[in-house]
Amino acid sequence: MSLMDAARTVRDNAYAPYSNFKVGAALRTDTGTVYAGCNVENAAYPEGTCAEAGAIAAMCAAGERTVAEVAVIADCPVPVPPCGGCRQKIAEFAAPDVVVTLGTTDGATLRMTVAELLPGAFTPAHMADG
Ligand code: THU
Repeated sequence: MSLMDAARTVRDNAYAPYSNFKVGAALRTDTGTVYAGCNVENAAYPEGTCAEAGAIAAMCAAGERTVAEVAVIADCPVPVPPCGGCRQKIAEFAAPDVVVTLGTTDGATLRMTVAELLPGAFTPAHMADG
């Protein structure tokens, strides 16, 4: 199964009663393992937790830390752009040249790198003298 297909499959489990906007994300790590996440909203904070954050949380919970590839999908007129917070979360665990494929449920895709998604990212290196 492709990474985008994994994202498409997990999207079906999204809990998005407030936005009615279901998102699925899947990532492959440097070990080749795939972790998936969907957005999960709640009444107090209707924006909830993003799909990308869910996939990253699953990766970390399994003890992995290095993202090699990402796919995100939603029913969107254009390939779904990750929110700012998710761009930062992806950049925490992925090198600047890692490919993030954005998709629509209709099959359109857009390949971007982490550096393109978050130019000038704040990284742990910026705290070297902190
Ligand atoms: N959402 C994601 O899961 N990922 C994104 O990259 C963009 C937005 C979710 C959050 C919320 O549940 C819904 O989409 C609407 O913002």
